[in-house]
Amino acid sequence: MENSQSSWIEICKTTELLEGQIKAFQVQGNRIALCRVQGGGFYAVDDLCTHDDGPLGEGDLLGTEIECPRHGARFDIKTGKALCLPAVLPIKTYPVQITGETVKIQVPQQVTKTP
Ligand code: FES
Repeated sequence: MENSQSSWIEICKTTELLEGQIKAFQVQGNRIALCRVQGGGFYAVDDLCTHDDGPLGEGDLLGTEIECPRHGARFDIKTGKALCLPAVLPIKTYPVQITGETVKIQVPQQVTKTP
C-alpha cells in the first residue's frame, strides 16, 4: 500500500542566493529549482520543463517568471502555469518556508507500507 505524505526539508541558507538568482537542488528524488525574486521572496518549482525536460534551474528569472534555457518556454513560479509555447502543461510548485536564514521546502514523500 502506498501513501503520500509531506515533510519540510532544509535546503539552504537565504544568503546562498542573490535576488534574481535560481539554484537547483536534488531533494528526496525531486529536482527542485529554488528562485529568489527581486525584493527577496523565495519560490520553489520543478527543475524540469514540461515541454522536453529542460533544466529550468539553468534558465533565467524574469520577475516571477522562469524561462527555460532550451526553447524559451516561460512559467509563472507562483502558480506553475505555462505562460507561452512551446510548453502547455504547468510545472509543479512547492511551499517554501523561511525561518531566520534557513530555507525549507515541503516535498511529498512516498511511504510504502507492507500489508
Ligand atoms: S525543454 Fe523547455 S522549452 Fe523545450
